[in-house]
Amino acid sequence: MDVRARWFARFKSVAALRTLLREPVVARAEKLILGGGSNLLLTQDFAGVVLKNEITDLLFLPEPTDRNIVIAHVGGGVGWHELVEKSLAQELSGLENLSLIPGTVGAAPLQNIGAYGVELREVFAYLDAVEIATGRERRFTAQECRFGYRESIFKNELRGQYVVVYVGLRLHRNVTTFRTDYGDIRQQLTTMGVADEALSARHISAAVVQIRRLKLPDPAEIGNAGSFFKNPEISVSQFEALKARFPAVPGYLLAGGERVKVPAGWLIEQAGWKGHRRGGSADSPATHGVHNRQALVLVNHGGAQGAEVWALAQEIIASVEEKFGVVLTPEVNVL
Ligand code: EPU
Repeated sequence: MDVRARWFARFKSVAALRTLLREPVVARAEKLILGGGSNLLLTQDFAGVVLKNEITDLLFLPEPTDRNIVIAHVGGGVGWHELVEKSLAQELSGLENLSLIPGTVGAAPLQNIGAYGVELREVFAYLDAVEIATGRERRFTAQECRFGYRESIFKNELRGQYVVVYVGLRLHRNVTTFRTDYGDIRQQLTTMGVADEALSARHISAAVVQIRRLKLPDPAEIGNAGSFFKNPEISVSQFEALKARFPAVPGYLLAGGERVKVPAGWLIEQAGWKGHRRGGSADSPATHGVHNRQALVLVNHGGAQGAEVWALAQEIIASVEEKFGVVLTPEVNVL
């Protein structure tokens, strides 16, 4: 999937970012801030400048008032899973359910990453961001970030206006209770032979890593951007109507009791797309398709253009809407 940017620059500090933003070429050009690129589908060349965040310092700062709370102050360019591993090595809890998520720390708040029953916002303390237009640095609280399911103010009102340079996360020492309620975590812990009394953040992390490796393709091996779509949220009455037609449809009632989240993976699988492969020719393998163990993930087996993956995504949206009357929205950023 060859897509080119007109310019590319990397920055390793806030000062270097500010200098870059003042460069006339950069100041005038359209800008794309790149973290790890793991939630991005590029369908065409980019005529502007790509700025890659490589701020990688990381501090663990104990709270003066409570020794069991440690703030991780983390550069936006640190790899997310690297942070998870470093916090586990410090015996800190809070990120274990978010193990093995691709991408960088700076990108994580933009979509309030979440997995296995935990969302980033639950451990979020603050973020520091540089305003692209002025170079001014500003600290955002959780409330100011307006987190939602895979949402924040940086994907909406402030889209494209700030570069996240540092993220502060509130982690805990001496934790004895863990989030094991989601999906296969308990089952996996049993398989691993972990007794309840001995449970630690490392065990949870190991279980999540195992589950993810079984279900999700590794982007280093098969091109993918994780979940391609969000899980749709529909009204209770729409869900009841759907359940009458498709009794097996799963649904999770959301706080407030008015809306139900339906797994997009189920809808896509039931519409017949799971494991679908296309592209290639009679004697060469398919270039792209739908992952065979998680229908929510579109994959590039090699050689597909971004636009072809996007065309497949649109067919899936149309087919799910036709069968279930539910409109899927992309979770990845499509450029
Ligand atoms: N399902 C199917 N078929 C499939 C996939 C899923 O029927 O092919 C149904 C099953 O009923 C299953 C349910 O969907 O029980 C939930 O599946 P899973 O636990 O795999 O989670 P998900 O809702 O499909 C979400 C996140 C993932 C995250 C997992 C685990 C979104 C868009 N995706 O997927 O996040 O890892 O939960 O918490 O919310 C990502 O954002 O890139 C990502 C991978």
